[in-house]
Amino acid sequence: GRKWTEVKELNEELKDQVVLIRGRCQAIRAVGKKMAFVVVRERGFTVQCVLTVTPDVVSVPMVKFATSLSRESIVDIEGVISVPATTIKGATQQVEVQVRKLYCINKAIPTLPINIEDAARSEKEIEKALQAGEQLVRVNQDTRLNFRVLDIRTPANQGIFRIQCQIENIFRQFLLSEDFVGIHTPKLIAGSSEGGSAVFRLDYKGQPACLAQSPQLHKQMAICGDFGRVFEIGPVFRAEDSFTHRHLCEFTGLDVEMEIKEHYSEVMDIVDRLFVTMFDSLNDTCRKELEAIDTQYPFKPLKYLRNTLRLTFEEGVQMLKEAGVEIDPLGDLNTESERKLGQLVLEKYDTEFYILHRYPLAVRPFYTMPCYDNPLYSNSFDVFIRGEEIISGAQRVHVPEYLMERAQACGIDVKTISTYIDSFRYGAPPHGGFGVGLERVVMLFCALNNIRKSSLFPRDPQRIVP
Ligand code: 4AD
Repeated sequence: GRKWTEVKELNEELKDQVVLIRGRCQAIRAVGKKMAFVVVRERGFTVQCVLTVTPDVVSVPMVKFATSLSRESIVDIEGVISVPATTIKGATQQVEVQVRKLYCINKAIPTLPINIEDAARSEKEIEKALQAGEQLVRVNQDTRLNFRVLDIRTPANQGIFRIQCQIENIFRQFLLSEDFVGIHTPKLIAGSSEGGSAVFRLDYKGQPACLAQSPQLHKQMAICGDFGRVFEIGPVFRAEDSFTHRHLCEFTGLDVEMEIKEHYSEVMDIVDRLFVTMFDSLNDTCRKELEAIDTQYPFKPLKYLRNTLRLTFEEGVQMLKEAGVEIDPLGDLNTESERKLGQLVLEKYDTEFYILHRYPLAVRPFYTMPCYDNPLYSNSFDVFIRGEEIISGAQRVHVPEYLMERAQACGIDVKTISTYIDSFRYGAPPHGGFGVGLERVVMLFCALNNIRKSSLFPRDPQRIVP
């Protein structure tokens, strides 16, 4: 094979060398009949390629062919690297390719629903451009999602999904180093795993079944199976009724379950160290991606502490009360009060990442362990980024008779989860864990305003395509 160079590798050190690249025509501009510019993009990086009519190398028909290419067509270009005197606008690489050969490998249709260059600009810039009278078609979120294959080509979107991959990677690496085992639990299950109505029901060879709302039941059963510490990265299904900026019908769950020796703070310790490691690593290794995201979706870096702040629910209620927000001390926080508390925490503790624990028992799922000292509260927690929930976790009830009682009290049909409850009859250690919504972490770390931006092909109550 011939030697290929990636667009992101093109730099001044390659001056006067012949390179062979493949990419997409992002922009094409003719200058008379004898010259043309083609901006070629490969995975978010762009380079300006120049065709100049030159005897025996570049002919007038070749320039014409280049200017007739449709945007986003795939091209192979062979050319010589040159370094222009002035900076190149509209390309990431600060060198040019003086084209000698150009082949179209596969052409795109002539009119695309999304222009990548325009789609890659921030809302503010688009606004400015429109006011300046620039010819530009503003594409809304729905159009972007309908033509997601085009939308995800912008450098910011490329960055978002590389960040997502890195989060998964750190989650796995960190937990492996802490002696956790990666597992996979079934997604077709007999009864709902979280209770409530947000469950997709289906027919399993004549038997009623559900798509798992979480790996909850089986990750606990793995602990009953003596794995000690487990994690899972897998799909989670929720038949959400709510059409919001933060709910999907299918998302990726990062789940953890572990034995507890003395206190549920052991689980919060893992959350603390895992996420501080994760944020440090993202800031360190994903600079290019974060910059690209900031260009299209401007945001401020996340503020977090070396030791993650832990507040009790009661302390949270008190802080809200002092700020004039009255909430039921044994109820749940709603989206608004969560946001408000996030603001108050930021002002007082200078962090946008914190843990709220000891929630009222009544607002937690049936498997949650009540507090030993006060059964109105529970050994549970939620974790927030910028005032929005990314994690919920808890110590679990490991005594089968009591688990049965709690399930019944919460209106669960215990027949459908009898094998789960039975698992605790054969010797089950105290344990706890948590579940993280991957798309929420990406969304909130980068302060994106909609979870659809951090899901490659989002599924929401109104969308099951593309
Ligand atoms: O709070 P949830 O429902 O908790 C559980 O599933 C428990 N089994 C976790 C545990 O181990 N105790 O979901 C966990 C996380 C949420 O904090 C949120 O980040 C995310 O999953 N999540 C969603 N993300 C996107 N769309 C939805 N509809 C989500 N529902 C929950």
